[in-house]
Amino acid sequence: MDFVVLLFILLLRLGPQWTAAVEDMSWTYTGLVGQSQWSEHFPECGGSSQSPVDIVTTQTKYDPGLSPLTPLGYSQHGNRPFSLYNNGHTAVIELPDWMSLGGLPWLFSAVQMHLHWGSGGPNYGGSEHTINGQSAEAELHVVHYNSELYPNMSAAMTQKDGLAVLGILIVTGEETNPAFNNIINYLSRIRHANQKVFIPAFDVQSLLPKDLDRYYRYNGSLTTPPCFQSVIWTLFHERVQISKAQLLKMETILYSSEAEDADRMLLQDNYRATQPLNHRAVFASFTAGEVTAIVIGVMCGCVGLAVIVRFLLKTIRMKEPEKAKEKPQEMALNCTSQAETRDERPSPQSHTCDTPGQDTLEDNNRTGKSNVV
Ligand SMILES: *[C@@H]1O[C@H](CO)[C@@H](O)[C@H](O)[C@H]1NC(C)=O
Ligand SMILES: *[C@@H]1O[C@H](CO)[C@@H](O)[C@H](O)[C@H]1NC(C)=O
Repeated sequence: MDFVVLLFILLLRLGPQWTAAVEDMSWTYTGLVGQSQWSEHFPECGGSSQSPVDIVTTQTKYDPGLSPLTPLGYSQHGNRPFSLYNNGHTAVIELPDWMSLGGLPWLFSAVQMHLHWGSGGPNYGGSEHTINGQSAEAELHVVHYNSELYPNMSAAMTQKDGLAVLGILIVTGEETNPAFNNIINYLSRIRHANQKVFIPAFDVQSLLPKDLDRYYRYNGSLTTPPCFQSVIWTLFHERVQISKAQLLKMETILYSSEAEDADRMLLQDNYRATQPLNHRAVFASFTAGEVTAIVIGVMCGCVGLAVIVRFLLKTIRMKEPEKAKEKPQEMALNCTSQAETRDERPSPQSHTCDTPGQDTLEDNNRTGKSNVV
């Protein structure tokens, strides 16, 4: 007992130093300062407007005021090379300051873009945002700051409406996406943390989906510490596709450890778990989901009604054969009823139904049915 108390006191006394040591350490996605511990060291990570989130499409609200986004200067990359940097958490490309984003209440200037990915394991993840609980294999973020209200990124990143981030979900398919090779081909030059290389400038818009009009919008945060709740998020509805080989390179080339480190740590699964919405609204710039729901709803309604009408008509006709036995001139009617149910209960009598009046009677029945519907 005394030993346990002693150990407890010892740990308490070590506490402050221990915490200080952890604060100095950089954060990670798993382990000692993994994402469940982020909020102990970076209080905003425990806030109520965190990112990423799961977007439940049936719970999004259509906002006709959400105008199409307009990337400005994304394709005018110029001749100055881009810098590609392994910061130990992801690969970051710094963007020239003339690239900006229109279509938001303020003009936002581009700062950098980076990627999040998984490890190709059985749990199948990689993207940060999910749609209806479904992950994509990776996610690209293009980060901008509000250059109308703030002088620079560091001033803007702590302010509400300070940042605007574009989220692009990445899935794999058969074809190679040449635009992504502008990044992936150079990852082998920044294998270790803190390595930086200059790469040829390229058209950043070629990384984005073609349809920039359909997207989800919500207020959230940086998805890495210090998790500032300053981001106007735009997640595009259309996903971009890269090849499995391209994804594999992204997942297996980089290390989160430095070149000098004895223990090499692969940089994988650098995505944060989805965070609670906490009554935040997620808006959609489009109504396709609702229209589809209405169409499906109406179709189900019509099919249901048709089934009921058919059942009622059958029930009525089931009683008719008895009358038909007494009145032979009504045989044609009896045969029609058997022809109707032929596929369910084949009966030899149906072969005797080739009476000239049958077609007319069936036509009459059809007309009757469509009148009911
Ligand atoms: C950003 O702007 C603030 C406020 O004007 C200034 O104090 C700070 O030095 C700037 N930071 C950088 C990195 O330019
Ligand atoms: C984000 O927050 C601002 C300020 O509170 C509000 O005006 C805006 O409508 C919010 N946007 C979304 C997409 O919820």
